[in-house]
Amino acid sequence: MLDLTNIREELRAHYDLSPSMELAEEMSDIHARMDRVMPMIDWAIHAPYVRAINQLKKQRNAVVLAHNYMTPQIYHGISDVVGDSLHLAIKATEVEADVIVQCGVHFMAETSKILNPAKTVLMPDMEAGCSLAESITADGIAEMRAMYPGAPVVSYVNTTAEVKAASDICCTSANAAQIVAAMEGDTVIMTPDKWLAQNVAKQVPQKRIVWWDGACIVHEQFTAQDLRDFRDWNPGLKIIAHPECPPDVVAEADYAGSTANIQDWVTREHPKQVMLVTECSMAANISDANPGVEFLGPCNMCPYMQKITLEKVLWSLHSMTGAVEVDPAVAERARLAVQRMIDLSRRLAA
Ligand code: 13P
Ligand code: SF4
Repeated sequence: MLDLTNIREELRAHYDLSPSMELAEEMSDIHARMDRVMPMIDWAIHAPYVRAINQLKKQRNAVVLAHNYMTPQIYHGISDVVGDSLHLAIKATEVEADVIVQCGVHFMAETSKILNPAKTVLMPDMEAGCSLAESITADGIAEMRAMYPGAPVVSYVNTTAEVKAASDICCTSANAAQIVAAMEGDTVIMTPDKWLAQNVAKQVPQKRIVWWDGACIVHEQFTAQDLRDFRDWNPGLKIIAHPECPPDVVAEADYAGSTANIQDWVTREHPKQVMLVTECSMAANISDANPGVEFLGPCNMCPYMQKITLEKVLWSLHSMTGAVEVDPAVAERARLAVQRMIDLSRRLAA
């Protein structure tokens, strides 16, 4: 557990982190990317951290890879690469810098480390986990293999390195249906997300898909009735869901896709009103790029993603603590599963 009191003291001894309207004005080019969702007074609080982090990134030869669920001040203020899990994994294979700061959850940092064993991968808060990654271990994969002998195991990237190492291939929400369809045999084991598996089963009826009993604590909170109520209240509303939602929720939506697919859909279709059935930072992050779109709907935050703050990012880069390590033998096998996914995704997209 991070000792935030001491961290704050130490950071204040090294950096000027006082809120500053003057600095906020000076850095208004960055604020312009999020001014629809962030009042200037809040930007005056974040700007000193953003300045300090961006300076430290240069000194340490570091890049920040950030997931679409990060807060706007991280997403727009300090990130070099933003995207969904698939994009972040692909970009991790191309990093030339010495240090990667992963703004996202632990499995994402592990994936970056697996793909870049020689680099330092910093996780600003090791407690940023994921309910899906916590739902299964390598023993669970062995159990599934024993129940369905010979069936390939497709594991969501939201898993630990040990689980990836025990799987045949990984998938993300952006490529799950294509990966499953490309597997040999009639039966495919999908772990650990039962809802993603059931959504994929509808898209790939030629396969018998069996699944582990895991779920995302953020997406399983949405109900089909919520979506119907919002539609009745706002006729013409477009509803876009993440495939970690239960299938009856996805069935009520106009479109379902990964966080990057959701972003592309909104940019392409430019709906007047849209409800993103996913973590609510998504809407905040894409709001300025879509000025004619009104974002409505319930706000479910991921408690794990929200653990990542500017203060913790600054601390990890300042102290160079929070380096993610993966046992080299596990990493080697996990890399096979991740690399197979990246290669197959590229072949299928070509
Ligand atoms: P994406 O791959 O769609 O970004 O999803 C990752 C995630 O954790 C969603 O909850
Ligand atoms: Fe995991 Fe759900 Fe949070 Fe994504 S939103 S990191 S799947 S708990």
